[in-house]
Amino acid sequence: MLDSEQFIPQTTADGSFTFTSKEFGEDFHSHYGAKQESFLKFAEPTQLAFRAQEPVLRLLDICYGLGYNTAAALQTIWDINPHCHVEIIALELNPAVPQAAIAHHLFDNWGYKYTDILHQLAFNYQVQQEYLKAELIIGDARNSIQLLNQSGFLADAIFLDPFSPPQCPQLWTVEFVNQISLCLHPHGILATYSCAAAVRTALLSAGLVIGSTPPVGRRSPGTVAVHQKYSGNLTLLPLCQAEKEHLLTRAAIPYRDPQLIDPADVILMRRQQEQQASSLESTSRWRKRWLFDSAASNSQQANS
Ligand SMILES: C[S@@+](CC[C@H](N)C(=O)[O-])C[C@H]1O[C@@H](n2cnc3c(N)ncnc32)[C@H](O)[C@@H]1O
Repeated sequence: MLDSEQFIPQTTADGSFTFTSKEFGEDFHSHYGAKQESFLKFAEPTQLAFRAQEPVLRLLDICYGLGYNTAAALQTIWDINPHCHVEIIALELNPAVPQAAIAHHLFDNWGYKYTDILHQLAFNYQVQQEYLKAELIIGDARNSIQLLNQSGFLADAIFLDPFSPPQCPQLWTVEFVNQISLCLHPHGILATYSCAAAVRTALLSAGLVIGSTPPVGRRSPGTVAVHQKYSGNLTLLPLCQAEKEHLLTRAAIPYRDPQLIDPADVILMRRQQEQQASSLESTSRWRKRWLFDSAASNSQQANS
């Protein structure tokens, strides 16, 4: 069996397809709609339609996967300004994932105009044409991000889309998020689907200012992050009181990976030990206080 054959398309509620990862025990997208998630959790919160008026936009797509976030970004930008020069760096561990998305023709039901670009990226790992320069870097994003930082790449928009923190804690640690923040342009915006308190703590400890993104479907809110100096120029959706108090509970103790090399189980254990020794409020008490609030209970689920 080819590596890409292990991925079987499954329909999500908006008619687009996703895969399930046996390795991580999780779907690649929300079952409320994979395509919808790419637009509403990533392209919109990073304000790409607004920014498309700029002559050049640089994107960093962390966990490229099937390529949906890059696909949504290109469509959003070029629908507004087909002459915007886009530079994309995408990071992905497993090349079989984007290749399977192409092999299964998953962009056919998007009516997508730029499938040839995604095809080239999946199989040649780079694309260069008049208004696009894109590279798909295959490997552990923890290594790739360090090399990227050395190259001086600064992104106007960063999509942070790993599997959930319990399944893939290595891409939500304080140290990894700090590396990501170094790649964020002073006027850049980072977006992630996660509202986990541990993830938000990692973003804050990298010196970023955070806001919520509206829930999509019945899912919990996501998070955007920007540099402190830029936050005055933007209207970020502030965290609600429940979300703020969530950051004062044990759920907010972040994942740590000091050398950026530890396996998931070591990172999970390290956090669990820190939580056990902590005098912060338990997350279950916080949950009881906010039980009536569905957004809050969703946030809790993201952290359990
Ligand atoms: C939730 S999926 C991303 C979905 C994707 N953004 C899309 O639009 O289809 C997470 C992706 O992270 C990749 N991944 C897991 N561990 C990684 C690592 N250490 N470095 C880079 N990518 C990783 C997985 O192979 C998977 O494709």
